[in-house]
Amino acid sequence: MTTMDSSTGSGASTGAGSALAPGSYNPEVVARLDAIRKTYYMGAISVEVLHGISLNFHRGDYITIMGPSGCGKSTLMNILGCLDQPTSGTYYLGEEDTSAMNDDDLSAVRGARLGFIFQSYNLIQQLDVLENIEMPLFYQGYSETESREIATGLAERVGLGERLDHKPFELSGGQQQRVAIARALAVDPLIILADEPTGNLDSKSGAEILNLFDELHAQGKTLIMVTHSDELAERSRRQIRLRDGLVESDERS
Ligand SMILES: Nc1ncnc2c1ncn2[C@@H]1O[C@H](COP(=O)(O)OP(=O)(O)OP(=O)(O)O)[C@@H](O)[C@H]1O
Ligand SMILES: [Mg+2]
Repeated sequence: MTTMDSSTGSGASTGAGSALAPGSYNPEVVARLDAIRKTYYMGAISVEVLHGISLNFHRGDYITIMGPSGCGKSTLMNILGCLDQPTSGTYYLGEEDTSAMNDDDLSAVRGARLGFIFQSYNLIQQLDVLENIEMPLFYQGYSETESREIATGLAERVGLGERLDHKPFELSGGQQQRVAIARALAVDPLIILADEPTGNLDSKSGAEILNLFDELHAQGKTLIMVTHSDELAERSRRQIRLRDGLVESDERS
């Protein structure tokens, strides 16, 4: 086993806990991957991309996952995000074992418990800032008044209070990513997942987004991000490195 903070998790987290700023993360495990393997089948050919990954993620932690292109980062994120299921192994999200869930259950869990941030923002072009942020609330059955109130508060929180009725094409990349972050926060998810969230941004907009992530971490949000950015990794509290479908290293800072 190459993982340091693997199936038990408690050893590494207790040891590192004393060196962390108070409140940096809580020992409560919000996600647990146990011996996760993933094989893609393409006709007669099968390729195993993840070879047995065991990791615990704690409430309030700020985690980055790095590694060379093709090592399986997005594959792992898709499993964490309940967008795909492992070929074998178990994934607990909160108290729930997602392994036995069907597509409807997975989609319900996704909507209620996870917030997603993508490299290319993935906003709905026809909707304005407020409506984009309201989307996940709408699916969770919030009333119009409630959704509007929550979405307005979140837009203000990410610095877009003056741009509520702007459409995505009227916003810069950094502003669009802030809308996506507000949308990811809307249902107050258990975990916020991001795959290359600063990948499309210039350095100034990227820096603003990193500041926003710091604020979310300080507010106790749980963040798991895939990135190629050393700067983002340095600002996170736990750096996991994948290589060829295995955990190569797992460190805290
Ligand atoms: N749907 C799929 N079908 C078949 N093979 C796939 C599929 N998705 C990914 N792969 C393969 O799995 C491996 C890991 O891909 P993955 O997208 O997880 O890499 P990554 O670490 O996110 O890379 P990058 O840094 O370039 O985004 C690659 O060899 C890729 O070709
Ligand atoms: Mg990827």
